Amino acid sequence: MLNKRPLIADNAGTMTMLSDCPAPAKAAPSLTDEVVFDYWQNKAAESGDRPDVTIRDTHYLDLEIGKICTHLTPSDRVLDVGCGTGITTGRFARHCAEVVGVDFSPNMIAIARDRLATEPPDVRGKVRFECGDARRLDFPDRTFSRVISQRCLINIPDRWEQAQAVHEYARVLAPGGLLLLSEVTLQGHERVNHFRRQFGLSRLKVHWHNTYLDEPAFLADIAPVFKPVDTIRFGTYGFISKVILPLLCAPDEPSFDHPLNAVARQIAEKMPDIEGCIHHALFVLRRR
Ligand SMILES: C[S@@+](CC[C@H](N)C(=O)[O-])C[C@H]1O[C@@H](n2cnc3c(N)ncnc32)[C@H](O)[C@@H]1O
Repeated sequence: MLNKRPLIADNAGTMTMLSDCPAPAKAAPSLTDEVVFDYWQNKAAESGDRPDVTIRDTHYLDLEIGKICTHLTPSDRVLDVGCGTGITTGRFARHCAEVVGVDFSPNMIAIARDRLATEPPDVRGKVRFECGDARRLDFPDRTFSRVISQRCLINIPDRWEQAQAVHEYARVLAPGGLLLLSEVTLQGHERVNHFRRQFGLSRLKVHWHNTYLDEPAFLADIAPVFKPVDTIRFGTYGFISKVILPLLCAPDEPSFDHPLNAVARQIAEKMPDIEGCIHHALFVLRRR
């Protein structure tokens, strides 16, 4: 069983580590479940079904979805936790038998259901969406053969509860099933900033509503239930998108839909990693 203990110093410790970030113009609201919930509810209400509602870098998302799909088989029953507007859920449905998308934001689920109505009948028949919280999943033990969770944990402000959610993923997974967990880590964030510093680029900021994972502590906490199979870092994409592209566009900020990001995605499909130069990591974990 998991013991309740801090997985990393604490939120204050994290801020100290990132102290060379420029001070934010306004103080961020203190990070609670309610604040993060409101953030996603509002985001869905404001942006509707735009493809970049849940992640601005859709070229990166495509790369990640492609990699996740290589771990799906036609007989898989899949749970997509933190499914947002369901864009990813529909893509996964094309590679498996059934997918349930779960999100704690009713506004996100409403958009996902509307979007589903526009999918071809064979995809529609495999997908359903439900409101629910990653930490308290409303499914019996061992229901799924795959659980996919993309950037959901970083929206849980408490590090103990992040690990608790992963233990819920373990509960609903059949033994031997795979968890495909894509998150942002403190270490990845530091690595990409290390490269940016070498080229005189400013530090990337931590999104105010996110709590990035401390990778070694996190992996140690979930070790009783998950065995690591692979970690994919997409560092080639990160190097082109977060170092070369900003240098090319300086002093302007590059846009996420710049054509070089499309090229970066193509290159990264063949050459995945340059020095882990990205804040994202896709963990492939097997249920013990
Ligand atoms: C960064 S978005 C990712 C959406 C989608 N997986 C993707 O990759 O485009 C995070 C999503 O997780 C949802 N979320 C955050 N905390 C959650 C929780 N505790 N339980 C369920 N969903 C949650 C948010 O509402 C949001 O839709």
